[in-house]
Amino acid sequence: MTNSKLANAIRQLAKQKRAVIMAHYYQRPEVQEVADFIGDSLALAQQAAKTDADIIVLCGVHFMAQTAKILCPTKKVLIPDTAAGCSLADSCKAEDLRAWKNEHPNHTIVSYVNTSADVKALTDIVVTSSNALKIVQSLPADQPILFGPDQNLGRYISQMTGREMAIWNGACHVHSRFSVEALIALKHQHPDAPVLAHPECKQAILTLANVIGSTQALLNYVKQHPDTPEFIIATETGVLHEMQKACPEANFIPVPPEMTEGLGCACNECEYMRMVTLDKLYNCLRNESPEVIVPDSVARQALVPIQRMLDLS
Ligand code: 13P
Ligand code: SF4
Repeated sequence: MTNSKLANAIRQLAKQKRAVIMAHYYQRPEVQEVADFIGDSLALAQQAAKTDADIIVLCGVHFMAQTAKILCPTKKVLIPDTAAGCSLADSCKAEDLRAWKNEHPNHTIVSYVNTSADVKALTDIVVTSSNALKIVQSLPADQPILFGPDQNLGRYISQMTGREMAIWNGACHVHSRFSVEALIALKHQHPDAPVLAHPECKQAILTLANVIGSTQALLNYVKQHPDTPEFIIATETGVLHEMQKACPEANFIPVPPEMTEGLGCACNECEYMRMVTLDKLYNCLRNESPEVIVPDSVARQALVPIQRMLDLS
């Protein structure tokens, strides 16, 4: 089937089955186009929490679908490819977090949403890149914090709030490999273009950035600056689709990654996010499978820190 026929068939199935299709900004453009709702991690969780659809199809990575299932335990939550994981979430296993927690008994565990349900079940409060600053600032000043698993986001939040935190040493393989040399060269070639970076980028990239924020915050900045002719973008390139739609005349220049030996792909796309295709989305809706299941006891515990985050957002 062609993409447009597939898209029509997907929309028909969604209507028939009272399903809502949610997509992250890093999804393939054709998947974003067929979705009812596109958002960053926070918006997807907020949207899942309030949907009245019978089925949620989460076009994103596994932790996003798990979060939707934890928020909507009675709904069917589907993900078009269960192999769509996240290198950052994988860097923090529940048993390792439990050991870290035991070594720091009086600490509050602040976990990035990019974690498994098992890790969230051990967490005091979940954050996303949209609300981490606000949530960490809301904690009592004398409350010691363990922050994980993203070391770049953790360091950025610590710098912005002036709070000392013990930080896990995980990182996203896409955001941590942007080339500093290439960004410096791009800034020389395009001196008036603002640099927009996601806080998962390493320190040297964030130092060169004019705007640091979640996927949604970077998109909002573009929408608020419709007369800016060029932007340099240091995040996954999927978001360029919505940026280009918002400002069709503007030139969006993605920062390339370092050429690292052994890495097959030298682009700045998240291969996990790109696992979701229109074909897989169609089959997933048609067969109502694969379904995301979170064991009840884990879901009940993981809901507490997710709900705390939503209440503070
Ligand atoms: P956002 O919170 O900006 O959606 O980021 C999610 C993510 O996976 C970034 O790599
Ligand atoms: Fe995970 Fe990075 Fe992909 Fe986001 S871009 S889903 S943090 S691997």
